[in-house]
Amino acid sequence: MPDIIVSDDGAVRTLRMNRPEKKNALTLSMYEGMAEAIEGAAARDDLRCLLITGHETGFCAGNDIGDFVEMTTSGALGAPILRFLHALNRSEKPLVAAVAGRAVGVGTTMLLHCDHVVAAEDAVLSTPFVALGLVPEAASSLIAPRLMGHARAFELLVMGRPLTATAAKAAGIVNTVVAAAELESAALAAAREIAALPPHAVAASRRLMRGAQAQIDGHIEAEAEAFRKRLVSPEAKAAFAAFLNKKK
Ligand code: COA
Repeated sequence: MPDIIVSDDGAVRTLRMNRPEKKNALTLSMYEGMAEAIEGAAARDDLRCLLITGHETGFCAGNDIGDFVEMTTSGALGAPILRFLHALNRSEKPLVAAVAGRAVGVGTTMLLHCDHVVAAEDAVLSTPFVALGLVPEAASSLIAPRLMGHARAFELLVMGRPLTATAAKAAGIVNTVVAAAELESAALAAAREIAALPPHAVAASRRLMRGAQAQIDGHIEAEAEAFRKRLVSPEAKAAFAAFLNKKK
């Protein structure tokens, strides 16, 4: 099975992260797969909504930490990561997410680009960037304070305190919390509801609501610049080694 499964059902394209043995930690090839699926939908008039989902045991454990370690030698941030983040920002198609279990790092920050998020009762969102010696990415340092105010965004992005599904709903990231067994059907129903609306009116409304795309693109790049510097810092190297040595 591929680690990103893309399937089209009527007007809804589903992107499923499928590396459950690693809690859907994202590799560079997975970022490529996600970016391709989002970019590829742009040229397809028949596709009107994208649904991003993971596994019932976990949405996404963030960037693969082994990949982070490889990046520490080059100091480069993998191009597929930036391609995926820009694809999220530039998507003209509405984005829906279905989240079960842990959503860590980019697993949480990608949700800030989604238009509608359904979470299972067991979902937990967290962004341990600073504990890993890193800085926030995916324009989360711009979008999260706008969404929930500086103090709550600081608690999430800098202090790294996790949000339960209910707390994420209160913070404005999640729309609906459902029983785990209902997650996929509830998210698909929402995606189909959006897909049934007049697509050009949806696209125009999204554009108006999301603010300047170029500003978000610029913020993604500014964060990436800071991220690259942090990746090679002693703080980050020590944090990555601690995670990778834990399992030995
Ligand atoms: N990168 C690489 N491997 C990861 C990973 C990541 N981000 N997240 C999980 N894994 C691996 C684990 O090392 C483990 O591998 P192993 O079976 O070969 O030992 C496997 O996935 C299962 O993870 P495990 O930690 O045993 O599952 P859990 O249910 O106890 O905990 C998490 C799940 C997501 C809470 C925990 O794995 C975690 O904290 N991961 C790191 C998240 C992170 O910091 N991401 C980066 C954000 S910037």
